[in-house]
Amino acid sequence: MASNIVTIISSFVIAVIVALTVQIFYFSPIDPLPLQIPPSSSAKHNQLKNIIKLGEGILKDPEDVCFDKEGTLYSVTRDGWIKRLPRNGDWENWKHIDSNTLLGITASKHGGLIVCDATKGLFKVTEEDGFTVLVNGSQANFADDVIEASDGSIYFSDATKKHGLHDVHLDLLEARPHGQLLKYNPTSNEVSVVLDKLHFANGVALSKDEDYLLVSETWKSRVLRHWLKGANKGKTDIFIENLPGGPDNINLAPDGSFWIALVSVI
Ligand SMILES: *[C@@H]1O[C@H](CO)[C@@H](O)[C@H](O)[C@H]1NC(C)=O
Repeated sequence: MASNIVTIISSFVIAVIVALTVQIFYFSPIDPLPLQIPPSSSAKHNQLKNIIKLGEGILKDPEDVCFDKEGTLYSVTRDGWIKRLPRNGDWENWKHIDSNTLLGITASKHGGLIVCDATKGLFKVTEEDGFTVLVNGSQANFADDVIEASDGSIYFSDATKKHGLHDVHLDLLEARPHGQLLKYNPTSNEVSVVLDKLHFANGVALSKDEDYLLVSETWKSRVLRHWLKGANKGKTDIFIENLPGGPDNINLAPDGSFWIALVSVI
């Protein structure tokens, strides 16, 4: 009798171990590598104390900002709005789309905005035509941030080819380089890969002279620089590393330096 119970219990234990093993190694949505967060440089954290908050209570989870030629400020929200703040005016609801995944935006030199949607791809948004798809979700899994060059080329990040905005934590847990930097040619309508194997490709910016591109690798706490012109054309190096957080969006400042937003990764 006692030995029967022991047999039953040990069979049960073995069954549980087998079930857990299958669950973890077969059904797991991730195939992780160890995530090595580099040591961060020391940074003063008192600079944000004196900021003025714009749009508090008006913008739901705003992701990015840009200015058009008239100096109107635009931002996108997670309830699908592009809202704008004209100089000396109040916030206006500008354009709306049924989406809760709008991310990076930039003002186009030809008028209107270019907007990333982490689910639907890349859009052009104008006063007259509203939202027009440039690159759909089948060509970009997770469009994240975008910049337009003066020759009309549009560079944008595909944060990760594997996961989506709502399971982005899995991409961090997996810590594999599923991201890429893409280029959209509006003349030929073609999308090409500029850089592959990025550890969550996030913010994208062009230098003032458009001689290089920057792209954030959030999970690596660093920003890469990809040269578009000059002796280093086609080469990629590290622009800044050991940041005290994960770099998110990047915007060029008028003096040629860059604003880089940092997120707490862990
Ligand atoms: C997505 O874009 C590609 C390339 O332009 C096109 O071939 C494909 O039909 C589009 N898919 C959808 C669902 O619109």
